[in-house]
Amino acid sequence: MKPDDKRIWEKIDKNDDHWRKRRKKKEDFQTVDSVIDLNTVKRLRKLQDKGFIDSISGTIASGKESGIFLAKLGSEGEDYCKALSIVSPIVIKIYRTSTLNFKKIIRYINGDIRFRKHRKSTRHIVNLWAEKEYKNLKRSSIAKVRVPTPILVKNNILLMELLGKKSRPFPLLKNSPQAYTEETLAQILEQTKMLFHKAGLVHADLSPYNILVGDQIPYFIDMSQSVLVSHPKALEFLERDINNVISFFLMKGIEVPDSKEIFNTITKDFPDKDLLT
Ligand SMILES: Nc1ncnc2c1ncn2[C@@H]1O[C@H](COP(=O)(O)OP(=O)(O)OP(=O)(O)O)[C@@H](O)[C@H]1O
Ligand SMILES: [Mg+2]
Repeated sequence: MKPDDKRIWEKIDKNDDHWRKRRKKKEDFQTVDSVIDLNTVKRLRKLQDKGFIDSISGTIASGKESGIFLAKLGSEGEDYCKALSIVSPIVIKIYRTSTLNFKKIIRYINGDIRFRKHRKSTRHIVNLWAEKEYKNLKRSSIAKVRVPTPILVKNNILLMELLGKKSRPFPLLKNSPQAYTEETLAQILEQTKMLFHKAGLVHADLSPYNILVGDQIPYFIDMSQSVLVSHPKALEFLERDINNVISFFLMKGIEVPDSKEIFNTITKDFPDKDLLT
């Protein structure tokens, strides 16, 4: 185990002990760490026991609603990921159960026919939020939109490909001045169009904070809120995505196309019926 792993596993073990001591109490279901709650600890341990992950080797980001970690695959995981052309290390995204903005996310769940029947408890909604990102990433990667390939989802834990080089994640578009070009903007709009037509999805939170850039190629991440194009607000979300991206590039002094025209070009035809479900 590397020194970095040690720190993280110590934190996890601390929670684990805490869980053992309080196993019979209601508090077991409460969050004891800002990201890793007791049940999540158990799930991570299970993945480790099964040889799917070997160790967690660092924190990539810790946001309000999720924690993003770098993890080394175990031998089981390596075998499984070979078929997906994914190599170690990978990314583990843990959705926080305590800070979920229920009001914000419910509008992206209601109206998505894939999740017509869902349970209403916070715990179930968090799991559904993770599953929704898994499904959206899967549809997108099958459609060859540039996103991290998802590996598996287990309750509030999502495993996916690391977008990066030599274990280092690619930077956000926000922090990639070399990508402030007409060419990158054109690629982003092309990916948005592919997402709509080939995956039948609208990202719904596209911004320089949810696009990574590696070797001048933009990748979309963070797709829990993405909706099917049949969602009643899909076109409203698409318009917002296009405006966000175009105004960012405009602010950086790049010549930009007319956002209304882009919106009309993308929505001129709708995807095939089978992509609406
Ligand atoms: N597959 C990945 N490969 C490399 N880096 C990633 C990957 N997924 C996420 N990240 C990094 O982790 C950060 C947070 O991920 P993400 O946007 O999915 O989570 P979030 O909960 O929406 O966080 P935030 O509220 O900060 O947007 C990203 O900004 C990115 O830097
Ligand atoms: Mg994000």
